[in-house]
Amino acid sequence: MTRRDKYLAVFAAEVLALYLFSWLVLCGAAGLLPQLPALHRAGVAALLLALAQSATYLVCWGLSHRLRRGLRYAWRHAQLVRGVRRALLEASSYSITGHEGEDQVVTLPCIRVTLNDDLTRGEIQIRGHIKYDTRLETLDLSSALGRYIVDEQYTSDNGNWHVYLISDSSLNNQLVFDNINEFAEYQKQYGSYTLYMDKDNHVPLSSLLLVGATGSGKTYALYSLILQMQLWEIVPTLYFADPKISSLYVLGAKIAPERTAGEIENIIEQLETFHSEMTQRKYELQDKLQEKLDADYRHWRLVPHVLIFDEFAAFQRVVATLDKATRDKVSMYLRNIVLQGRQLGFFLWVVMQKSGSDDVPTAIRDNLPWKVVLGSASNTTYITAFEEAANLPSRKYGPGQGLYSYQGLTRGPKIMSFPTLNFDILNAVTADSQSEPPVL
Ligand SMILES: Nc1ncnc2c1ncn2[C@@H]1O[C@H](COP(=O)(O)OP(=O)(O)OP(=O)(O)O)[C@@H](O)[C@H]1O
Ligand SMILES: [Mg+2]
Repeated sequence: MTRRDKYLAVFAAEVLALYLFSWLVLCGAAGLLPQLPALHRAGVAALLLALAQSATYLVCWGLSHRLRRGLRYAWRHAQLVRGVRRALLEASSYSITGHEGEDQVVTLPCIRVTLNDDLTRGEIQIRGHIKYDTRLETLDLSSALGRYIVDEQYTSDNGNWHVYLISDSSLNNQLVFDNINEFAEYQKQYGSYTLYMDKDNHVPLSSLLLVGATGSGKTYALYSLILQMQLWEIVPTLYFADPKISSLYVLGAKIAPERTAGEIENIIEQLETFHSEMTQRKYELQDKLQEKLDADYRHWRLVPHVLIFDEFAAFQRVVATLDKATRDKVSMYLRNIVLQGRQLGFFLWVVMQKSGSDDVPTAIRDNLPWKVVLGSASNTTYITAFEEAANLPSRKYGPGQGLYSYQGLTRGPKIMSFPTLNFDILNAVTADSQSEPPVL
């Protein structure tokens, strides 16, 4: 039992006793007790006191659960606080036991809950304590939150609070577009150089690792990203590499056939071209950097270049069978692009089923700032992609849904989903020679 529960129980018993006494005196036992005026007055006083105490309790409840934001809000707030308190109490290692002799009474850490107006998202803060700080860092609260799940958790800037960002698990952030006009309209809220995944998640254009089991929606995710880029004011130059010669190859062949490769030799050639373009940009940028040392390609509104590599593992496996000189060349190109491309505006998108070191060199994988794992993946995939597997937000993922992290932007892997496109994608993309956005 917590100290607070103990006081509440005493308080409830006292109020009930007052009600019972006043009822007995004023009506219940009118015939049994002598009609003494003093007793009657005591009955009235007890009733008034009980009413005042009940009213005070209700006001306190209303204030602590923010009743001013509505009864639904207050009710949900109270449920969440109760759920977290109970979980902490039952886990027993998150409380402070009273002094000797009162072992049964514990004090729970202070808990603050805030929800947004439509009650779909919120934040839970739990006050840290030296005794259980490290445990709070790994606490999985989701089971105590009813319909809510934890999306992200971190420690507040002053280190005193453990913060858990929660969202309604029945909430679906996935965007659905029925035609390209709707898609283009939505895209307008993000300028060039920013890519969105769903209503809440958008990131700056950068190198990407996109992992997921077969059928999890990797290639499909690329469609919406490519379409977005085609709608930008500054349309990126896209290169396509698809050793499977399937959907992405077909799409690439429509957008830029001269920059679409399927055969290994062509892919290697394309990689070489991409790398030499990047080297050229390096010299171009060298002069410009005199103007502003810390700026990147966006400052001068330069065209970004993106090399999209579907089924990277298949490519990597064939490369492993080639001669050492070619292997070294490929690996040097890839590493240079990933390490030097950010400021120059040259990016590598690696799409594959598993991100183990057999499939993608660790030096490349670890330097891709934007990582997405679609669908439910194995612990090895989560560890190789996000460097952690425990305490990830969990949900049943549909096609195109999963987790992402972005270096410097997310504190830990976050739930996201790629849009569903209910229109002919191949028709919607434009060939690269017309660099204007699709005619709507
Ligand atoms: N965001 C989404 N919305 C709706 N349906 C989707 C979404 N993403 C994927 N799908 C469905 O899942 C199917 C498989 O997707 P996709 O081909 O992209 O998988 P994949 O991960 O690339 O698989 P593979 O590794 O075999 O290439 C798609 O044809 C589509 O019907
Ligand atoms: Mg695919």
